[in-house]
Amino acid sequence: MTQISRRRFIQATSLAAIAASCPILRASDADRYRNLVSPGRRLRIACVGAGGKAFSDIMACSTEEIVAISDVDFANGLEIFGMFPGAARYRDYRQMLNERGNDIDAVIVTTPDHTHFPAALMAVEMGKHIYVQKPLCHTVAEVRQLRAAVAKAGVVSQMGNQGHCNEGTRLAKEWIEAGVIGDVREVCTWTNRPIWPQGMTPPKDDASVPPTMDWNLWLGVAPSRGYSAKIAPFNWRGYWDYGCGALGDMGCHGMDAPFWALNLRGPVHVSAQSEGSTEVVAPTWSIVKFEFPSRGALPPLNYTWYDGGKLPPVPEELGKDGKLPQGGTLYRGDKGAILSEGDYGESPRLIPESRMGTFKRPPKTLARVPKSNSHQEWVNGCKGGPAPCSNIVDHSGDLSQMVLLGNVAIRAGKPIDFDPEQGVCVGQPDANRFLSKSYRLF
Ligand SMILES: NC(=O)c1ccc[n+]([C@@H]2O[C@H](COP(=O)([O-])OP(=O)(O)OC[C@H]3O[C@@H](n4cnc5c(N)ncnc54)[C@H](O)[C@@H]3O)[C@@H](O)[C@H]2O)c1
Repeated sequence: MTQISRRRFIQATSLAAIAASCPILRASDADRYRNLVSPGRRLRIACVGAGGKAFSDIMACSTEEIVAISDVDFANGLEIFGMFPGAARYRDYRQMLNERGNDIDAVIVTTPDHTHFPAALMAVEMGKHIYVQKPLCHTVAEVRQLRAAVAKAGVVSQMGNQGHCNEGTRLAKEWIEAGVIGDVREVCTWTNRPIWPQGMTPPKDDASVPPTMDWNLWLGVAPSRGYSAKIAPFNWRGYWDYGCGALGDMGCHGMDAPFWALNLRGPVHVSAQSEGSTEVVAPTWSIVKFEFPSRGALPPLNYTWYDGGKLPPVPEELGKDGKLPQGGTLYRGDKGAILSEGDYGESPRLIPESRMGTFKRPPKTLARVPKSNSHQEWVNGCKGGPAPCSNIVDHSGDLSQMVLLGNVAIRAGKPIDFDPEQGVCVGQPDANRFLSKSYRLF
């Protein structure tokens, strides 16, 4: 670690506990952003991560100037390096940001979850706008610290939960706010994930690390262990040291629309059933219940998450042979129900389907994102356009916090009561260790 990034990082981690209990700064929309780029010039972007999902994140910004790309394994970067032959190549994102800091306006972070926070925080503290993949961070404390840092730095941010830009996400919120299904007291969301191993015995180290890969950099702030092809790429999702399990992977997609429509902020009681979770690996399945008290005029609400093959009961409105889609959300109100098929909130429908025939749609009240394009919305925001809709300060910070609290309940093995003002589990001090983690210097 270079001197400058080591100092930044030590400072960052020691501030984590303080940040967790600090109120968040919130500037007015007019003066909240600094370092905006003139609409007439291309955004200069550095990218952390080149392969896997990073390929499509970078390509989605290909109208801009891709200045530099870092990946710990150049073999994963070959395709994107070929698309941007002029971009400087790095293995270590810290070196990239230190050397190219003056040449860039913005940073995309698309790596395994445990690297989101250190890379994004470094970029934010350098005054760079950030696009960070979901679930934003690896722990609740990281989310809170990154959110505070983004607000303080006045940079434009967007999380990569692209479904937040969908038409369907807006329709669900507008219908619920217009009272189409009355007061909503019950919601559930389910997914077919994990489609990677969870609840397994951790693998032994492989005999050798691929020659193209720097395993120490891949581990980054995570505890030291030997390389295994069963962990990287992709399958790191099932390990608590690197990923956030099925809930962390898909929650920021599936739970996004309900979080937004029903303002799921504030204190929450979270309880979990699960199987196979250990100190090291995420469970084979989980059912996590979030119980919210009333929020302003909204009544108390129970929200249940299902993964690993567990499903909620099929609603009677689907008829006697009715089946649930592979992933989706059911909103149950006292005047009806909405079923949103898919993981990204894309297609809400009133059920039974016969209700759609006579449905008088309420007016559209929410701003739309052109072409539902999350990356373009962020680029436009960096050039003085509207604040991206899944920016960390207004939306995705609190969403990610809620999702990650489910993992705290799973790992604690007992229900928790989270107080967002203090940033702690009240009454379960032993669960608080799952809100944060320690960091390896690398
Ligand atoms: N929004 C979506 O629909 C969506 C879809 C897939 C993945 N994702 C997210 O994208 C992220 C990456 O997932 P993935 O499946 O592509 O993972 P992956 O294991 O394929 O890793 C992506 C790339 O990051 C590189 N990398 C790892 N550590 C790095 C580091 N320290 N610095 C630079 N590069 C590093 C890897 O070598 C790889 O090329 C995750 O946060 C995941 O949740 C989002």
